[in-house]
Amino acid sequence: MRLAVVGCGYVGLVTGACLAEAGHDVICTDIDAARIAQLQSGEIPIYEEYLGEILASTRASGKISYTADAGEAFRASDVIFICVGTPPKGTGEADLSAIDNVARQIAQEARSSKLVVEKSTVPARTGLELRRALNAYSRSSNIEFRVASNPEFLREGTAVQDFFHPDRIVVGVEDDASAAELREIYRPIIERSFRCPAHNGACPLDAKAEFLVTTINSAELIKHASNSFLALKISYANVIADLCEQIGANVEEVTHAMGLDSRIGGQFLRAGLGFGGFCFPKDLQAFVHLAGSVGVKFDILRAAEQVNKQRIDRFVSKVHKALWVVKGKRIAILGLAFKANTDDVRFSPALEVVKAMIHEGADVHATDPVAIARAKTIYPDLTYHQDLYEALRGAEAALVCTEWDEYRHLDWERAGTLMSRQLVVDGRNLYSPSRMRDLGFEYYSFGREAVQSSVESAR
Ligand code: UGA
Repeated sequence: MRLAVVGCGYVGLVTGACLAEAGHDVICTDIDAARIAQLQSGEIPIYEEYLGEILASTRASGKISYTADAGEAFRASDVIFICVGTPPKGTGEADLSAIDNVARQIAQEARSSKLVVEKSTVPARTGLELRRALNAYSRSSNIEFRVASNPEFLREGTAVQDFFHPDRIVVGVEDDASAAELREIYRPIIERSFRCPAHNGACPLDAKAEFLVTTINSAELIKHASNSFLALKISYANVIADLCEQIGANVEEVTHAMGLDSRIGGQFLRAGLGFGGFCFPKDLQAFVHLAGSVGVKFDILRAAEQVNKQRIDRFVSKVHKALWVVKGKRIAILGLAFKANTDDVRFSPALEVVKAMIHEGADVHATDPVAIARAKTIYPDLTYHQDLYEALRGAEAALVCTEWDEYRHLDWERAGTLMSRQLVVDGRNLYSPSRMRDLGFEYYSFGREAVQSSVESAR
C-alpha cells in the first residue's frame, strides 16, 4: 500500500515521517513548492523533537519522498491522508477551502480508486461533504472514492512520541474494507513492531493503543469533543486558581488532590496564562459554531473561552500591581512559544503579553530557546536575546510566559545580580514562592501565595 500525505505542516510531516518509519512508502506533497524544495534537500521546516532524525532516516532508506506535483502524489498512492490547515474564519467557523481544493485535485488527478482520509481537524459532517465533492469532480464513474476520518491527537512538542504511543487510534469509516486498510496501516503501531526513535528500543510498557472503528461523523466529533474538553479543564483549573488567590489557598495543592481522583485525572489542570496554539482556541470556536448551527447551545465552552481570554488581563494586572508604572521600564519576557518544546507562536499567550507590554510603552527584551525567528515575523522591532541571562540583564521585571525546562532550572541567584529589580511575574507557576522569597525576589504567580517586597508586606 502506497500512502500520500497532502499538507506538510506539523501534522502532515509527523504523520508522513512516522508512517514511513513504521515501514510504509510515503509520498508527501504541499502547495508550497519552497517547503517541498526544503524537504527534498533535507531541511526540516519546523522544530519538533525526533522529527529531524526520522525524516533523515526515512529519506535515506527511500521510504519517504516529496513532490510539489500533487497529481503525481495522488496517482502514485492508494490511500491519501489530508493534513491541510483548517484555520478559523472571523465567525469562528472552520475554513474548509483547503480541503475542498484538495478534494477537487484528487478527483481530477486520480486514475484509480482511492481511500481518502481526513486527518485535518474538521467539523462533523465534513467527511460526507468530502465524499460528495470527490464524486462530483470525478473524471470517471469507474473510479471509486471511499472516505474515512482519522483524527490526530498529537501534541506539538511531543508529536513523534504521541504518534508511536497513542492512547487510541480512531477511524471513522463507511465500510469494513476501509477499516481493514487503516488497521493494516497502523498495524506496526498497534503491534509495536517499529523502531521508536523516542525510546531507542526501550519503550515504556504502557497500555496498547485501542483501535476504535466508528462512523465518520462520530470520529470527527471525537476530535472536537476531546480538544474542547481539555480546554474546558484548563479553564476550570484557572478559575480555581483565581479563587485560591482570593481565599488564600494553593491551586497546586487543590488540583493535585483533585487529579488523584481517577475520574478526574491529573493532566491539563495546570493553572497559568491559559491555552494557546493553533488547536484549542480555534477548535473551541469551531465546536461552538458547529453546535450552534444545529441548534445546540454550548455556553459552557463559551465560558471556557472567556476565562481563557481573561488570563492575559489578570497577568497584566499583576505586572501593574507590582511595577506600578510600566511605561519606559525594561521588561524581560521569558518564552514566546505557545508551550514548551515547540517554535510555534500561533495564538501564543506569550505574544499577547508582549502586545500588552508594547502597548504600555515598556522596553521589551524577549528570549526563547527556539521561537525567536517566528516571533520576529510578527514583532520585527522587539529586542531579542538568544541568551536568557542577557534578556534579564538590567530588567526591572521578568515575565515568565512559556514553561521551558531551561526556565525551570534558571539560576535566579545569578539572574538577581543582573536584574535592576528582583521581580518575577510567573505565568506558568514554575517556581516555589518560598524559594523565591529566600532568594530575595518579589514573586507573583497564579493561585498561589504572592511574595511581596519587604516594604509592602510590612504594611
Ligand atoms: C492539543 C491536544 O492536546 C492534542 O491532543 C491535539 O491533537 C492537538 O491539540 C491538535 O488538535 O492538533 P497542542 O495544542 O499541541 O495539542 O498542545 P497542548 O499540550 O494540548 O497544550 C495546549 C495549550 O494549553 C498550551 O498553550 C498549554 O500551555 C496549555 N495548557 C496545557 C495549560 O495552560 N494548562 C495545562 O494544564 C495544559
